[in-house]
Amino acid sequence: MSEWQKTDWRNRPRVQMPDYTDDAALAAVEAQLSKYPPLVFAGEARKLKAVLGEAARGEAFLLQGGDCAESFEQFSANAIRDTFKVMLQMAMVLTYGAKVPVVKVGRMAGQFAKPRSAPTEVIDGVELPSYRGDIINDLAATPEARKPDPQRMLQAYLQAAATLNLLRAFSTGGYADVHQVHSWTLGFTEGEKAAKYRDMANRISDTLDFIKAAGIDSKQAHTLQTVDFYTSHEALLLEYEEALTRLDTTSGKWLAGSGHMIWIGDRTRQPDGAHVEFCRGVLNPIGLKCGPSMTSEDLKILMAKLNPRNEAGRLTLIARFGAGKVGEHLPRLIKTVRDEGAQVLWVCDPMHGNTIKSSSGYKTRPFDAVLREVREFFAVHKAEGTIPGGVHFEMTGQDVTECTGGLRAVSDEDLSDRYHTACDPRLNASQSLELAFLVAEELSSLRADRQAQAAV
Ligand code: PEP
Ligand code: CO
Repeated sequence: MSEWQKTDWRNRPRVQMPDYTDDAALAAVEAQLSKYPPLVFAGEARKLKAVLGEAARGEAFLLQGGDCAESFEQFSANAIRDTFKVMLQMAMVLTYGAKVPVVKVGRMAGQFAKPRSAPTEVIDGVELPSYRGDIINDLAATPEARKPDPQRMLQAYLQAAATLNLLRAFSTGGYADVHQVHSWTLGFTEGEKAAKYRDMANRISDTLDFIKAAGIDSKQAHTLQTVDFYTSHEALLLEYEEALTRLDTTSGKWLAGSGHMIWIGDRTRQPDGAHVEFCRGVLNPIGLKCGPSMTSEDLKILMAKLNPRNEAGRLTLIARFGAGKVGEHLPRLIKTVRDEGAQVLWVCDPMHGNTIKSSSGYKTRPFDAVLREVREFFAVHKAEGTIPGGVHFEMTGQDVTECTGGLRAVSDEDLSDRYHTACDPRLNASQSLELAFLVAEELSSLRADRQAQAAV
């Protein structure tokens, strides 16, 4: 077989990608992007791969989260800060439950392109081409706005670069200090309804006090004040991905320079399609969304293509079946993985199988359904003796009203108050943190089971 080329995907059937009408304009943008610096460095992607390998063995746990679709209009330092902040809070709670390091990966700095269920949508009686994410077209409901414009790739790149710059500053500049992160979480557990989370928060406080008293704090200052924070997005718009692909001179391998981790969506995972062809050739950790239509046969082929050397941390399977459907699909895919002797990291995305239309007309997700899918995911792994290695959420640090339910209950009628997502409904800061407490309970009971088993 000849060597992989970053352009090979162009000879494969492609789905969910725009038809740009101005070839010259597209070529000019691609040429420009090819000259821009990559956003991430190969050493970082390799380091992420190594820690994802640890998560696959149960020695770490992945928290992946962020917007469904990043937006040009809502781009702001505060929005980035707030999502980063709530992810750190969640990570601390999860670390406490799992007693292993939590790998933090944002759906950020590149999560712009969206697959859609239909090529057109009807808005106020008018049929328009579907919105495909700010990197492709504009959300405004006019035919002109919905025309794919290659120039938008340059703006997406610049926004991704600025986002990553701020995330790197937050990660190392003192903002991520554990004591600070914990003090934010204590605020959340105030009040009657959050009483059930206070106990865990108090135990974390005790641990931090002990660390301080023992002097470990000052000796480990660097570890406690900085974090590794990675970026990820769906590798959907392959012209953008190809233009940012670079040869890593250290290893002689290709790096997708657009983000640390990229994933293949549930609608673009055709084994012979363009997206799989592109992703198989880059060294980054790769995610693969697995919905109810994923067959064992396809999974077998995809694992062989995407991870031919069976490298730990290379392939993350992101299960997104929907509450009530996990028991039907996850065991059969776990069996396929087992039969193939494949190394994978299993992650639960409880968002994309639980989207419904509310009585008020908004696309939403009930918090209870999200939680139920997470619990089913843990239960199946427990029954199979396999490892639930992470969670994948659509969430924001902002106080939006997009998903219903949670401690500070959002009702169907509330959805119109602060419904800001450009695509799918996200958990707000309070719902995200509450979910982290609930996942931490699952993780801590899993640990207790393992210890009990080890004791007999
Ligand atoms: C997404 O993650 O936003 C998405 C579209 O997911 P899926 O491919 O699983 O539907
Ligand atoms: Co989504």
